[in-house]
Amino acid sequence: MIVAANFKTNKTRKETVEYLKELEKIDFGNVKVAVFPPQSALIEDELIGAQNAYPTMSGAYTGEIGLEQLNEFNIKRILIGHSERRHILGESQEFIAKKFDFFKNNNFEIFYCIGEPLEIRKKGIEAVVEYLKGQLIGIDLEYEKLIVAYEPVWAIGTGVSAKLEQIQETHKEIRKFIKRPILYGGSVKLSNIEDILKIENVDGVLVGSASLDVEVFKEMIKKAKEI
Ligand code: PGA
Repeated sequence: MIVAANFKTNKTRKETVEYLKELEKIDFGNVKVAVFPPQSALIEDELIGAQNAYPTMSGAYTGEIGLEQLNEFNIKRILIGHSERRHILGESQEFIAKKFDFFKNNNFEIFYCIGEPLEIRKKGIEAVVEYLKGQLIGIDLEYEKLIVAYEPVWAIGTGVSAKLEQIQETHKEIRKFIKRPILYGGSVKLSNIEDILKIENVDGVLVGSASLDVEVFKEMIKKAKEI
């Protein structure tokens, strides 16, 4: 099981250090835990991954960080393709694939996000699968450090996760072409994590809002341990 926290644009470096201290008090068992803090809170710690970086060692990319900056903290894990970067920051599939290649070539563990907007979901599962496949163009699905996160856009940050049957059906479809771990993300909370983790083809969760409270996140890890 994999349980990952995406802080997005929340928490300072000091808060992140305290969070990790608190988190490390518990035994993770065989649960793999990852924490993605904002760039200003990157810390050298095996749990930490970057929410984003530019596919470059260094250079003239104002506002971005590259591999040189990640290397300073020995970061070897990155989130790519998150819906907020696709839809708010306007990242194209072509650019996302370029990023994927760069970090793959640098041996990063890549948490690669895919997920459909509501208008596609309304068209049914076939349209959803077709849309998701479009978000995988140019991505090496055999990469041994790839972890996929299925996060329906309409379930992210809304407090309403996808229905268990929808998660089950979608993960089953994704499994047909992805053999690597598949996480679910989108309004995962303490109240639904157990049911979600018990679904076939769900190998873990990517948690946004609910991960911000370390006590809640610790409880989530404990629940994952029991499954
Ligand atoms: P959420 O975010 O848990 O707040 O819905 C999940 C994500 O965007 O990774």
